[in-house]
Amino acid sequence: MAARTALIAGNWKMNTVLPEALKLAAAVKDASVGAPGDVAICVPFPFLESVSKVLAGSKVGLGAQDCSEADKGAFTGAVSTGMLQSVGCAYVLTGHSERRSIFGESDALINLKTKKVLSAGLKCILCVGELKEQREDGTTDKVVAAQLAAGLKDVSEEQLGSIVIAYEPVWAIGTGLTATPEQAQDTHAAIRKWVQGAYSAAAADRLVIQYGGSVTPETVDELMACPDIDGALVGGASLVADKFARIVNFK
Ligand code: G3P
Repeated sequence: MAARTALIAGNWKMNTVLPEALKLAAAVKDASVGAPGDVAICVPFPFLESVSKVLAGSKVGLGAQDCSEADKGAFTGAVSTGMLQSVGCAYVLTGHSERRSIFGESDALINLKTKKVLSAGLKCILCVGELKEQREDGTTDKVVAAQLAAGLKDVSEEQLGSIVIAYEPVWAIGTGLTATPEQAQDTHAAIRKWVQGAYSAAAADRLVIQYGGSVTPETVDELMACPDIDGALVGGASLVADKFARIVNFK
């Protein structure tokens, strides 16, 4: 099996004002010095450049939470991958369940954004995950497979090397309900199997798959001990410096 480097990423969502963002970023930088895997923080657009300066020289990658599917032009309010790159971003999230449900992003749009991130030479964290009723009616693997097929449409095996998949069961996001390690492991294994079928065994073996959904210092170690869980995408706990410090230093 390929030795995959874990990735712990914080998703700050629409939280913090500038002084808080700078303080939190500095704390993440300090906490990550001896971290066992890679670390990234996906911060609000207005703080990207200032946070990039705080993170300079550290192992913490800078990420954005969204991007436009277009390159430039008359798209009021939109932010291009070129803009993100120019302020030091290395990662962009696509397909987050909040973008899907609140902003009505379709699989087709998520695919366009994903390809835009890849063509800019950035790393894309593509989020997938089922609703509570889909988990209950046993269609999780089917739902996730459909999101993967649509999100990765026309993405080559070479480009897949710049993709991280974040499995975030929607019912576990911000609810305090973490999937059990068994539930998460089973779905991660199903994702890896899907990638094996759609691409190759080598591509599946290399793919970093994060779990997201109410990850805390109390749950991270058990999740990270699962063979197909290669990291975490952390919301609420990434806003609390000492909690995120413990998560990035999972055992
Ligand atoms: O992208 C991270 C996420 O949606 C999980 O949020 O607050 O449940 O850790 P949270």
